[in-house]
Amino acid sequence: MAVEVGVDVAVLKSEIQKTYTSVSEEPGRDFIFPTGRAWAEDLGYPEELATVPELAVESFAGIANPWKLGRLAAGERVLDLGSGAGTDSLIAAQMVGPEGHVTGIDMTPAMVAKARAAAAEIGAANVEFIEAEAERLPFADESFDVVISNGVIDLIPDKDAVFSELNRVLEPGGRLQIADITIQQPVSDESRRNIDLWTG
Ligand SMILES: C[S@@+](CC[C@H](N)C(=O)[O-])C[C@H]1O[C@@H](n2cnc3c(N)ncnc32)[C@H](O)[C@@H]1O
Repeated sequence: MAVEVGVDVAVLKSEIQKTYTSVSEEPGRDFIFPTGRAWAEDLGYPEELATVPELAVESFAGIANPWKLGRLAAGERVLDLGSGAGTDSLIAAQMVGPEGHVTGIDMTPAMVAKARAAAAEIGAANVEFIEAEAERLPFADESFDVVISNGVIDLIPDKDAVFSELNRVLEPGGRLQIADITIQQPVSDESRRNIDLWTG
């Protein structure tokens, strides 16, 4: 499907999946973006990071620290949009406790599998990971109190679809805690067509 952003969305998604399958399966590789536990520590991640298994954190690929916007309360229902290997979801699961629930969604199957394995490793019973696209969330209206996300929406051309879905699945008065890239200048058509700039 060619959309007005000037990039074939199906091709872009396939390239993004290739990139993040590699982050999942070859975490020791040198990517053009920082990854791993040392990066999360540099970002000032909260103390709950210490108990997130290496299996998840070795494939952490966030771009900033959504926890600077605040902690979660016990009992909250949380959606982690583009949960990757599960680092933020497993931190959220500790914050919301057994009365709360965390749902991570991601469109890259290798990431979802890795996040599930990491949750199983620590017996986290209040978190689940689902393969899904941010533009079409498989949840009922008003299912969540909070949405967290780290480094995901910048990868998605149809941002209106994403925010429309977030507005739909959040409770009225719900919160967004998003770490992402914003730009202050228009992006040239040539740059928009460059898939490497999207995936990186
Ligand atoms: C930069 S990684 C960040 C992963 C995770 N939030 C973290 O901090 O480690 C971006 C993630 O977004 C996922 N993603 C990209 N576009 C998506 C979409 N349209 N729907 C769902 N997931 C998407 C990718 O599969 C990848 O796992």
